Amino acid sequence: MRVAVLVLVVSVSLTEARCVPTSSPQCYKNSTKPDEDFICEWDERNPEKSQTHILHIWDTVKNSFRTHVKCSKPAQAYLHLEELGTPSRKTDIWVQTQVGNLTCNSSKTSVILECMVKYSKPQIIRMKRSAGILNITLDKPTDNKGAIYEIRWRKRDSEWQNTTFETKDSTIKDFHILHLQNRTIYQIQLRRQAILRSHPCKDSLHALWSDWSQMVDVPSEIRRRPVIRCVEKNPENGTRDIHLSWDAPLPEESVGGVKYILKLLDWPCHKTKKKKQTTNQTYNTSITYSEARISIIARNKVGHSPERHIFIPALKHLNYCNSDMPSNIPKADNNTCLEWYKLEDGETRPKTVNSSNNILLKDIKNEVDHFVRHYYFLHIKRNKQYQTVVMCPFYSKQKAPINGPANVNISDITHESAVVHWLSIPVVEQQGFLQHYVIWISGQGNTKFHQVPANKTSFLIKDLHPGVSYTVSISGRTEAGNGPNSTVNFETHSKEMGTATQSLLTE
Ligand SMILES: *[C@@H]1O[C@H](CO)[C@@H](O)[C@H](O)[C@H]1NC(C)=O
Ligand SMILES: *[C@@H]1O[C@H](CO)[C@@H](O)[C@H](O)[C@H]1NC(C)=O
Ligand SMILES: *[C@@H]1O[C@H](CO)[C@@H](O)[C@H](O)[C@H]1NC(C)=O
Ligand SMILES: *[C@@H]1O[C@H](CO)[C@@H](O)[C@H](O)[C@H]1NC(C)=O
Ligand SMILES: *[C@@H]1O[C@H](CO)[C@@H](O)[C@H](O)[C@H]1NC(C)=O
Ligand SMILES: *[C@@H]1O[C@H](CO)[C@@H](O)[C@H](O)[C@H]1NC(C)=O
Ligand SMILES: *[C@@H]1O[C@H](CO)[C@@H](O)[C@H](O)[C@H]1NC(C)=O
Ligand SMILES: *[C@@H]1O[C@H](CO)[C@@H](O)[C@H](O)[C@H]1NC(C)=O
Ligand SMILES: *[C@@H]1O[C@H](CO)[C@@H](O)[C@H](O)[C@H]1NC(C)=O
Ligand SMILES: *[C@@H]1O[C@H](CO)[C@@H](O)[C@H](O)[C@H]1NC(C)=O
Ligand SMILES: *[C@@H]1O[C@H](CO)[C@@H](O)[C@H](O)[C@H]1NC(C)=O
Ligand SMILES: *[C@@H]1O[C@H](CO)[C@@H](O)[C@H](O)[C@H]1NC(C)=O
Repeated sequence: MRVAVLVLVVSVSLTEARCVPTSSPQCYKNSTKPDEDFICEWDERNPEKSQTHILHIWDTVKNSFRTHVKCSKPAQAYLHLEELGTPSRKTDIWVQTQVGNLTCNSSKTSVILECMVKYSKPQIIRMKRSAGILNITLDKPTDNKGAIYEIRWRKRDSEWQNTTFETKDSTIKDFHILHLQNRTIYQIQLRRQAILRSHPCKDSLHALWSDWSQMVDVPSEIRRRPVIRCVEKNPENGTRDIHLSWDAPLPEESVGGVKYILKLLDWPCHKTKKKKQTTNQTYNTSITYSEARISIIARNKVGHSPERHIFIPALKHLNYCNSDMPSNIPKADNNTCLEWYKLEDGETRPKTVNSSNNILLKDIKNEVDHFVRHYYFLHIKRNKQYQTVVMCPFYSKQKAPINGPANVNISDITHESAVVHWLSIPVVEQQGFLQHYVIWISGQGNTKFHQVPANKTSFLIKDLHPGVSYTVSISGRTEAGNGPNSTVNFETHSKEMGTATQSLLTE
């Protein structure tokens, strides 16, 4: 029975058209500029689809209509300034709704249109948080006028706190400082109001608040520089694959998102770092055999962390060239990079490193200081990958070594042999590529001569005579000749003692 009645009521209200008035309209312009048109908005409360609206504007001073506006969009109408005449006089505005042959009117709103300014909601352009202070930079209203702002903020799940502040007329951006507790996430929102100075608007009754800006989460500032881990795959074909990964900032620093900005100096001919932005916590790249420098910062909504720098050292320097300049690179271009530097001790990369993408080794080979070891790399860019095709030491001109080997001494003396030891000649004293050591053994008026590979530091002297004094002279040799001798004397054991030792050992 009850159900039947309900069905009846519903069906009646569906068939019988009714006119439900809209809310009273709100009319405003979006800046204080005098030539701005107005917009009126209201809420439709009538479920009917086929309703139409007419906006009536009544001049209460003249007691006449100023205009009637047919609405094109639902719940909205534009009022053009030229149709309105003087917007500084008191006006009554209402919306007439028509459904079929029924009409109804909203309640009237009584305003001075000129004073109805509603700014767009404030936009936060930038936030910077440090040392307990949040500096919020805001967009200007389109008329570049000062405005009254209300800002509200809260710790998550707490009560709002609010305050108002006023800005000045200018074209520079407005900013506001808020004192916040360290290490705490906040939420903030702002709205604003025009400051109306013209005579009829002195009464602030008409001031309209803009909508609230979108609520934003305010993370705390990122205090620590990111920790980067770097894994280097085995060098192959002139390329090293690098896998970088790093940790996210603390949770209270990560609210609202974190971006990482990487700067890479991975192509030695680039003078400025390449910039990469990512939200990932990993980055893969490939680099040459030469030194690469990488820096990273973590950026959130309120600032960025201090910068972390890492450098990936060059591959160990070679003592000799292990390949020649490839013949398929006849000339330099933007895809080649020649890099060179002084390598005085054969190991330490100096501060000053030269690089160029429009010359090749032949162009500098004779230009660098003579008799000093230098090192060069030739890198190429192929399929966006960086690759080192040659790396080797070189000299513009070579000389014989300055000194003979140091610490020459003799051990393991028997009646017919001895072992000579020495320290290799340091690279700074070599003045060229050490080809080998030359050893002279003189005794009993004879001199014997040996050549020993440059990577050796000892030599077994055989076929000596028992109980004889010998002089050993040893010098390093480069393509320019022998260096000075380092000399040591010794005497072989007498035959008897030699056999005694031998028989002792063989017993
Ligand atoms: C301000 O309102 C006018 C219409 O009255 C509109 O054309 C304009 O886009 C609005 N400007 C902003 C910034 O909303
Ligand atoms: C209004 O329209 C309804 C149908 O839509 C009709 O029944 C009614 O007679 C009309 N009233 C007048 C006064 O025209
Ligand atoms: C609504 O307003 C218009 C314009 O003043 C008027 O002609 C009409 O009679 C009003 N309708 C009602 C139902 O008050
Ligand atoms: C917040 O941290 C800053 C330094 O980062 C410090 O100067 C300030 O005193 C701290 N404020 C509070 C309330 O702890
Ligand atoms: C806040 O930031 C603005 C620039 O956006 C700057 O002009 C102003 O000096 C800053 N204020 C403070 C207290 O840091
Ligand atoms: C803070 O908000 C309350 C409630 O909306 C309001 O009554 C009060 O005037 C506001 N205070 C300021 C300083 O804006
Ligand atoms: C290195 O070069 C060799 C010969 O050209 C090729 O077979 C090999 O796949 C290359 N390795 C990589 C990792 O590209
Ligand atoms: C993030 O990593 C994924 C794979 O893990 C990759 O597909 C994507 O391109 C990366 N995005 C950026 C911006 O590096
Ligand atoms: C980056 O390299 C690592 C290790 O080589 C690998 O596990 C990972 O899948 C690579 N990531 C991308 C996005 O290529
Ligand atoms: C090489 O690079 C320079 C500077 O980046 C540019 O001016 C020049 O046009 C490039 N040359 C070629 C052949 O691409
Ligand atoms: C010394 O150099 C030769 C080739 O010149 C090489 O075969 C040998 O392995 C090297 N010895 C050492 C200890 O490096
Ligand atoms: C080194 O000693 C050898 C043998 O005594 C001698 O022939 C040679 O001239 C000496 N070299 C120098 C540079 O004195």
